[in-house]
Amino acid sequence: MKTAVITGASSGIGLAALVELAQKQYAIVGVGHDANRSEQALKQVLAAVPGAHVRFVNGDLMQQREVTRVAGEIGAILESEYNGKLDALVNNAGCVRSWYTTTEEGYEQQFALNHLAGFLLTYHLLPQLKRAGGRVVFTGSESHKHMRVRWNDVMFFSGYHPLTVYKQSKLCNILFAKGLNDRYLADGVRAYVVDPGLVCTDIGNKNTGSLVNFVWKYRKKHGVSPQVPAKTYGYLVETEPAPEELYYYRCKPNRYSREVTSENAGRLFELSERLCGIQYPASEPGKGGKT
Ligand SMILES: NC(=O)c1ccc[n+]([C@@H]2O[C@H](COP(=O)([O-])OP(=O)(O)OC[C@H]3O[C@@H](n4cnc5c(N)ncnc54)[C@H](OP(=O)(O)O)[C@@H]3O)[C@@H](O)[C@H]2O)c1
Repeated sequence: MKTAVITGASSGIGLAALVELAQKQYAIVGVGHDANRSEQALKQVLAAVPGAHVRFVNGDLMQQREVTRVAGEIGAILESEYNGKLDALVNNAGCVRSWYTTTEEGYEQQFALNHLAGFLLTYHLLPQLKRAGGRVVFTGSESHKHMRVRWNDVMFFSGYHPLTVYKQSKLCNILFAKGLNDRYLADGVRAYVVDPGLVCTDIGNKNTGSLVNFVWKYRKKHGVSPQVPAKTYGYLVETEPAPEELYYYRCKPNRYSREVTSENAGRLFELSERLCGIQYPASEPGKGGKT
């Protein structure tokens, strides 16, 4: 049985992707933030796909120690029940903020959740991904275009603008996917980014101020249902041979920013390693994986 881990699986796009992969017979660990919401989500999945092999692990992925704990729980499940193999990791959890707000560890929250959480979780699950020749999929956004990484103040300590910070975090998703491919394609691990388009979810109505709340309440009405982008996750993790491009919209490759270069990807990789206090291992082609 193939395995998948999906973060932000308790609602919106992540929940729809979970149902999509459950229909494809994946055994899935959904990562949620709040136990009650995850329980509700699990009921929805089981109603849609009776007998689905799905369970939830919960944690606040903004906090790095929580990412490490959650990764430990997932790793133990994969080792004991699925031969230590992970076929698909979907880094999807995300948030929008209206003001400069930090995590308990002192990192700006959008950068911490939308980028660093996936960076750290992927690091912890890399051995299982390598063993399966797995795929890593990020939920990006068209809003990454016309953005650059603010290298000298990546968390916007000065001049905070919430939308700019969100867009930068989505640029980081593609840069990290590119960085993963640059380093680990030879090990059989391949990363992609999905542009979901405008989707009707509550992301702009969670922990945001009244202006963002108001704007998003109306904007989301023009969005598609989460089931629409969910198909692209199914396509990217299932299709053989593996699709070759990096950035996908509705199961088709799409153009992405010129800022997505190996140089910028490498720079972000090193910066994120420092911010997480980790060092990704060197590539070891031929050791495990379906190269
Ligand atoms: N909606 C759009 O139009 C759109 C467009 C482009 C990209 N995206 C991206 O799509 C992804 C999913 O967003 P969505 O629109 O589906 O919104 P959503 O329904 O709010 O989903 C966000 C998910 O992240 C989880 N989450 C939030 N804070 C967390 C934390 N501290 N720790 C762990 N999990 C946390 C949420 O948990 P709860 O269920 O407990 O809140 C939820 O499961 C995000 O990365 C977003 O940037 C969305």
